[in-house]
Amino acid sequence: MTRRTRITLKVVVWAGCLAPLLLLGYRAWTDDLGANPISFVTNTLGDWTLRILLASLAMTPLRIVFGLSWPITLRRLLGLFAFAYVCLHFSVWIVLDFFFDWPRMWADIVKRPYITLGMLALLSLTPLAATSTTGMIRRLGARTWTRLHRLVYIAGACAVLHYLWLAKVGVTDPYWYAGALLVLLGIRAGDWSRRAIRRRTAAVAASATSARLIDRKRFSP
Ligand code: HEM
Repeated sequence: MTRRTRITLKVVVWAGCLAPLLLLGYRAWTDDLGANPISFVTNTLGDWTLRILLASLAMTPLRIVFGLSWPITLRRLLGLFAFAYVCLHFSVWIVLDFFFDWPRMWADIVKRPYITLGMLALLSLTPLAATSTTGMIRRLGARTWTRLHRLVYIAGACAVLHYLWLAKVGVTDPYWYAGALLVLLGIRAGDWSRRAIRRRTAAVAASATSARLIDRKRFSP
């Protein structure tokens, strides 16, 4: 991929991720947030957090299924946008829903399972955002960094459960998101087990070859 294509792709991602925020700002400016503005803003930010998070989780499966390498270059940017959106979503809850009433907020986190799940998703994403720089990858070492970044699966699962739990009866959107997450995780799991089988087969073949060589040495005159 050329440098120009890479920059174009990043510009498209920036534009695509900022557009919902600009639209929300425009709707607030024109007083077009519906009958319950706080709920509208919270839900819009929550929806986009989930969409962008799933988009970031789709980059590796795109490479596995279609052999494309360019999506990987967008994974970090999408992950950081998902984190930015969840921070805004969380800020609305802190400022507009509870106005910094920490004891009531804590009670809400403990009492309502969908809030607990939302918090778990946010807490899982925080170390990923904090270690997203090249310097941090170097400092942690690739192995530790890769292990730490598996938290994104927990974040994805908690985020989907958060939505499934809070959705009213008859709302089907959370099931579509859950289905998408299952497909994405299924592709990764399939790829992981294929590679594990290949590694094991190679190890067995290598040990059989060395056993044959030892036998040959032992029985040669
Ligand atoms: C990665 C983390 C998160 C994701 C992906 C997420 C996503 C969502 C989604 C999709 C919705 C529903 C939108 C709709 O109905 O159209 C929602 C609603 C909501 N979320 Fe989150 N959320 C996250 C974290 C949090 C956190 C940390 C909190 C607060 C502690 C929170 C509080 C809420 C509240 C209060 C609602 C509105 C519920 C209602 O309408 O009654 N979320 N979120």
